[in-house]
Amino acid sequence: MNKELEQASFSQGGSEKSDVLHNLADYKFYIENHGCQMNVYDSRKIVDLMIDFGFTQTFNSQEADILIFYTCNIREKAAQRVFSNIGFLKNQNTKVIAVGGCVAQAEKENIFKHKGVNIAFGPQVYHKLPSYVSSVLSGQKDKILDIEFEQDKKFGCLHDRREVSYSEFVTIQEGCDNFCTYCVVPYTRGREYSRPALDIINETKTLLKNGAKEIILLGQNVNSYHGEAPYINIGKPKGTWRLERLIQEISSLDGLRRLRYTTSHPKDFTTELMEIHADTPVLPPFAHIPAQAGSDRILKMMNRGHTAREYLDKLKKFRDICPNIHFSSDFIVGFPSETDEDFEDTLKLVREAKYTISYSFKYSRRKGTPAAVMDSQVSEAVKTERLKILQETLLKDQIYYNNQLVGQTNEVLFEKVGRKPKQYIGKNAYSQSVIVESDKNLIGEFANVFIEKASENSTLGRLA
Ligand code: 5AD
Ligand code: SF4
Repeated sequence: MNKELEQASFSQGGSEKSDVLHNLADYKFYIENHGCQMNVYDSRKIVDLMIDFGFTQTFNSQEADILIFYTCNIREKAAQRVFSNIGFLKNQNTKVIAVGGCVAQAEKENIFKHKGVNIAFGPQVYHKLPSYVSSVLSGQKDKILDIEFEQDKKFGCLHDRREVSYSEFVTIQEGCDNFCTYCVVPYTRGREYSRPALDIINETKTLLKNGAKEIILLGQNVNSYHGEAPYINIGKPKGTWRLERLIQEISSLDGLRRLRYTTSHPKDFTTELMEIHADTPVLPPFAHIPAQAGSDRILKMMNRGHTAREYLDKLKKFRDICPNIHFSSDFIVGFPSETDEDFEDTLKLVREAKYTISYSFKYSRRKGTPAAVMDSQVSEAVKTERLKILQETLLKDQIYYNNQLVGQTNEVLFEKVGRKPKQYIGKNAYSQSVIVESDKNLIGEFANVFIEKASENSTLGRLA
């Protein structure tokens, strides 16, 4: 922590209103969010905290007094993107600029190199943002840097959502102890922290009572969840619950139609979790289990903790237990020293695994990670070429699975409107996009759809 950049005074929990500012509601804040689903969860919480504190939200950046950027930095040059967005959105009304999330955690005081930024806050202290903003507005402070790790305190400050959507995220676990050598998450989100099971159950119950139908349990390493158990067995300590037990409890809550969880690590994927999939109707027959690479040498250098064969055997076992299960994965191409043979091993793994959908990325050198200083960094041109080949290979399976859906009836949760009039787009149980036409607004509704046509990235159907 930079001593010159003192923290603003705040009460424990950070929701103490400033004495100096009386009409907080006159100050409008605009929030821009980039990144993973956990960033979406965090941003929704930030909005609620700011409104609870007294500020007013605006969706028009040009009239905002307070600009908040909440950004991830897992891959691209996020800091640069934030800075160009600041330049773009700053206007004559802007009084406070706050940059938060993993990008602030990683860049620390460098964030202030950009003129005009007042607050840099890490992902574990966003509960203190409202009081920091009021300190800047009242002139008590001009620059505030807070990148402490306070997961337990943060969750204690969060309240129920103000506006509940049909699909809601619930963070159950944050941070990561796996230290994959390419990844910044253990440094930006911190060590693993699992929320107590009772807090998660209560948050989920409230969301369901207020209209949520789908719940997505979030964690950087969700299947290593080990939160405090909710019940006391007489004479025994509370002990902990693992993800498996938590899913069983949540899946029986009233109002829940679909339950997802992400992101899993292959080494923590237990046989019990596979069996729960087979026995739990609200859990879709779909699992995101990132492989990252198919070469044992590269997997070892990545510190993934498993071989390609161990990974593929897990998928096979899962298919034996749960025959209709579908998989998705993440891949990184061009990890330092990756040869053509290593890359060929990734393609081999992909051909054997047969994914319904997958995400693939060029390796991005992240400051402070072990891989960033490894010898034999792969050239951009080679990364581009390998990414193209990998994506073509993945797409073949995706098209194959989409074609298999033709003639089936799928239950779809609709999320947004399509490009053409009356079009609605939703997701089936396998997280594939399904498009239909309807006179009725379908957003937030579950409906059965008869799939008539398949394309590369989506399927078309009619309401059944
Ligand atoms: N470069 C490229 N991709 C990365 N990911 C994480 N770190 C990096 C990096 N440095 C990818 C992994 C992970 C996904 C969320 O992002 O595939 O599963
Ligand atoms: Fe990053 Fe690896 Fe942890 Fe995933 S498991 S968050 S890739 S360190």
